[in-house]
Amino acid sequence: MQRTGTAAPTTDSLGILEEALARAEETNTLAARYLDPSLVDMLHVIGFDRRFVHASGSWLYDSEGREYLDFHTGEGFASLGHSHPDVREALEAVLAADLTDGVQIHYSVLAGMLAQELTGLLPEPLEATFFGSSGAEAIDTVMKFARAATGRPRLLSCDGGYHGVTIGPLSLIGDEFFKEGFEPLLPGCSRVPFGDLDALEAELRKRDVAAFITEPIQGNLVRMPPPGTCRACRSCAGGTAHCSRSTRSRRVSGGPGRCSRSIGTDSSPIS
Ligand SMILES: Cc1ncc(COP(=O)(O)O)c(C=O)c1O
Repeated sequence: MQRTGTAAPTTDSLGILEEALARAEETNTLAARYLDPSLVDMLHVIGFDRRFVHASGSWLYDSEGREYLDFHTGEGFASLGHSHPDVREALEAVLAADLTDGVQIHYSVLAGMLAQELTGLLPEPLEATFFGSSGAEAIDTVMKFARAATGRPRLLSCDGGYHGVTIGPLSLIGDEFFKEGFEPLLPGCSRVPFGDLDALEAELRKRDVAAFITEPIQGNLVRMPPPGTCRACRSCAGGTAHCSRSTRSRRVSGGPGRCSRSIGTDSSPIS
């Protein structure tokens, strides 16, 4: 069923929604002027500069009334489908309950409840969660935690890997294209070929690696590692004092449901 995205708001006393609906035609003009003109250009080149007015489940609808089956799920943000009714209902219920939320000075019980649920999905000994607002922040945090926990300086990643574009993750990325103009990047970061277990083992045996950071599936070219790679990583790291903290994976390509199980580590346990 198609909708136009003009459903009446319940309350809009500041007129923000009304203005957004009235100015919808300006979406790409505003983005090009005040956000990221090169992204707007790129979307135009690949024909993605539609004005999507509504999304539901796996379907997107544009202002011309066309429908699109969304195979992309917004880099994983819509893994549950767009506007999932359960998600909407929970968000509306929590907003309506007027709960106090907090950052830094106190916790929300909701954060603890979610972390507890996530822990139930993770293989042992993973049991704590750090919530961040982007993939790059998650990787930056892994880099810090791993160095602090191990006292080791080096961070290892794979050729062809993608980890985000803040300075930390950029230092791990296995593609020089993203780095031009931003060097020098962080010291102590080096790479091995994706899936080359001999090269990985040689690096890990030096015992100065704080973390090996890789994607379970490389997102850029959708490359799979050879079977058993995660187990082999673990056994390489097993001789070290910090084996449980020295391999890490992030979850965009291997995110919820994307490896046919709940998360990417289910079929290839790592720690
Ligand atoms: C594997 C991986 N790590 C990190 C990132 C960076 O995430 P973000 O763009 O949210 O910073 C991405 C983004 O596509 C990714 O695919």
